[in-house]
Formats: sequence, structure tokens, C-alpha cells
Amino acid sequence: MSDHPIEPFRIKAVEPIRLLTRGEREQRLTDAGFNVFNLKAEDVYIDLLTDSGTGAMSQRQWGGLLQGDESYAGCRNYYHLQEVVQDITGYPHVIPTHQGRSAEHMLFTLLLEKGDYVVSNTHFDTTRANVLYRGAIPIDLPDPSCTDVTADHPFKGNLDCERFEELIQSKPGRVKVCVLTITNNSVGGQPVSVTNVKQVAEICKRHDIRLMFDCARFAENAWFVSQREHDQSGRSLKEIAQTIFSYGDGCWMSSKKDGLANIGGFVAVRDDELAERVREMMVVIEGFPTYGGLAGRDLEAVARGLEEVLTAEYLEYRTGQVEWLGESLSEAGAQIVRPIGGHAVFIDAGAMYPHIPPHQFPGQTLTVGFYREGGIRTVEIGSIMFGGTDPETGKQMQAPHEFVRLAIPRRVYTATHLQLVVDAYRRLYAARERASGFAIEYQSRFLRHFTARLRELPSRESETVGR
Ligand code: F0G
Repeated sequence: MSDHPIEPFRIKAVEPIRLLTRGEREQRLTDAGFNVFNLKAEDVYIDLLTDSGTGAMSQRQWGGLLQGDESYAGCRNYYHLQEVVQDITGYPHVIPTHQGRSAEHMLFTLLLEKGDYVVSNTHFDTTRANVLYRGAIPIDLPDPSCTDVTADHPFKGNLDCERFEELIQSKPGRVKVCVLTITNNSVGGQPVSVTNVKQVAEICKRHDIRLMFDCARFAENAWFVSQREHDQSGRSLKEIAQTIFSYGDGCWMSSKKDGLANIGGFVAVRDDELAERVREMMVVIEGFPTYGGLAGRDLEAVARGLEEVLTAEYLEYRTGQVEWLGESLSEAGAQIVRPIGGHAVFIDAGAMYPHIPPHQFPGQTLTVGFYREGGIRTVEIGSIMFGGTDPETGKQMQAPHEFVRLAIPRRVYTATHLQLVVDAYRRLYAARERASGFAIEYQSRFLRHFTARLRELPSRESETVGR
């Protein structure tokens, strides 16, 4: 296994964190109904719930906050952001939003009618929710290589072009938008190749379908392309990103990821009329189109983040750190999604706890275990998140996998922190046969994972493990 990459920065401001005692952690779990979304963040030691908005900004970004121009209209930070986004994407119209999902909401409200189809390599949850909200139908067509979650394939984020063509044939004229999520979060932060982008773009052009990128992690995608796609190696990361965007009609971004900022997003498009309509809608729901629900200083942080993110020093360290964690967990016994993605490690909790059936939520067993063992917060991506009753059909839904995601905030945790995560996992793995599942005591109708309260089922043996 490779060494942990060396951080290409030193630490200038620190935020104290504290590990509660085991007894305190037990109490917090009980109070939270065994749902880590209900924990207070200050009770968490290492927070791997998400990589979204949780990163550390650079001194250049912090410096930029003082340069915030808080004018209502036309602030200078908007023009800076516009210039940076135009340079990377080539799209002339740049409209800031307060985060990714508000961009999705506006775009899909304008682009979709009831019964339209949207095809994606995989819709992220909020993207899917916004498509459904319009009465349209989101279809995921991920590359067939991702059905085998442990098989190494360089571009598991790709869209399956064959099935895309078939769908277009079977629903003539009804597929309106194609979304390429780069990287493809829901299948494990896997990249999309330039070759796939070209093929998808060609299909879209032939059938008059708009091609949009959901580009929250476009820089991590560019890094993987530079490492894995032979005819792209030797090109700069910015050139690779520019090439990818050149095939599309537009994009939206949650700048809380590869924008290296704590809040922000934008829409960027070629189409003059669509841009005009987004701007009209902005005024009603987000704010004047040059600030998009953000302060001038936030726009500056995003502009500077986007200028920093496409550097090899940063991306090599970033993806190397995630890889180090994945390989270390794998060595400690975990079955993980491979290849290791750009922003997170996904552990197969179903494989770890074969005695816990999906309806007793093995992913939750591991999630609760991580908090118990090390004050570590992760997230279940399994039958709590995707199971339950379909509100439309009343049918029981089944999650395809019982995963736990460990998402790594950018530039926040050191090798020592992540070693602690591996050590906690080692203890959980040693005690896996004695672990028990959960039952839901309360759940909401939609997105139950955020609010559910659970009860721990009696374990086979009552003894606890670890410190
Ligand atoms: N698209 C992708 C691919 C995302 O991963 C997210 C958020 C969004 C859109 C929505 O952006 O949060 O700014 O409104 N993903 C976070 C996560 C929440 O944890 O993966 P947002």
C-alpha cells in the first residue's frame, strides 16, 4: 500500500475537536435515536458525513473574503467569478446560485414538462427530486461495469450509450435533457471519460437533446482522466476540463465541493434565451442575478477556489488521501467499492454483516459502530436511505447495496485522523459477528434517512468492544 500523501499545505488556523468518552457517546446515540443526522456536530470527533461545504479554504480565499463587494447589483466579485467560470467551461452566461440544488430547481422548472424524460449516468438525490418535482421521469443509465462494485474499471462513472439509444428509440421525442454527473457521486465518485462525453454528446446532438453537466466534482474528474485516459495524458487539467465542457450545452455546479468553498453554486449555459429565463426566475427566488443568494465575499471565495482546484499538487494529494483511506480499510478487512473514488470511500456493510438482513440495516450497524468506537460520523447509503415504501406505488423499495460512505472533507483531516478511522474499523471488523441490526421506530414520508429514529435490536452477545 502506498504511503499517505504529503499535505501540500501547512496549517494556519485550527479548530479544536474533542473525543467524548465512550459513555457520553452512548448517551448521544440514544438521544439521537441512533441516527447520526440528529447528532450535534460538536459531539463528533471526525466528521465524514459529507465532503460538501466542509472543506478548509486557503489563505487566498480567506483574503478574498475581505475583498467582498457587497453591492446589490454588479459587484466586482461577480465579474471575477464570471471570468473564471467562462474560462473553464467556455459557457458565456454565468449565473450564481446559493448552492447546487437551487440551480437544479430553476433549470428543470424551465426545461421540463410533465412526462418528459431525463437521462443521466446517475442522478444525484437532489437532482432526481427536482426532476420528479416537475412531474418528469429521471432514468439512470450507468455504465454496466458498475454492477460489479469491486471490479476495477477506470471509468465506472460513464453513461451506457447503448441503453441511451434504446431509450430514445422507445420514447421518441420525449428525452429532453441528458445529465452527466462528473464525477458520478452515487456510484462511488467514479469518473466519466472524455471518450464517453464525446459519444454521449454525439447522441444528444443527433436527437436534439440538451447535454448538461452536474459538475460538482469536475476537477477530481479531470484528474482521473489525466491519469487513466491515454490520449489525454500530458494535457493540463484545465485543458481536460475545458474539453469536457466543450461538448455540452451548459452545466450547474454545487461549489461546495470542487469550488473549495463552504457555500455557493452556479448555472452556466450557452443558450441566450435559457439564461434570460433563469435570470428572470432568479429575481423571484434567489436574488438579483449577479449575487444569486450569496454575499459578495462568498462569490470571491468560489472564484478563487475554482482558480486553485485544477492544480496537480492539490488533486494528487486529494485523490491520494481518499485512496490511502480506502486501501487501509481494505487491508483491515473492508470490502470497498473499487476503484476508490475521488471524494469518498464506500464500504459494503452487507458483506461485513451477512447475518444482518437489509431490513435490519447493516449499513446503520456500521454507521453507529463508527460513532461508538471513535466518535466518527459516516453515512448509511443503503436500505434506510433508499428502502421503505414508495409514496407513489405503495410498494416496498429495496436498496441495491448496503453501503456506508466515508466522505473526506477537502484539506481538513491529516493522516493521523484517518489512521484513527482505520483503527476504529479494525475493532469493528474484529467484533463483526456479534453486531446487531436496527428497527425503525419513527420515519417521515419522504427522505426518511434524515429524520428517522431507530431502535437497536438485541445483539447475539452483549459484550462491547474496544476502548
Ligand atoms: N449534484 C451532486 C453530484 C452532488 O453531490 C450534490 C450534493 C448536489 C448536486 C447538490 O448540491 O448540496 O449544493 O445543493 N451532494 C452532497 C453530498 C450533499 O453529500 O454528496 P447542494
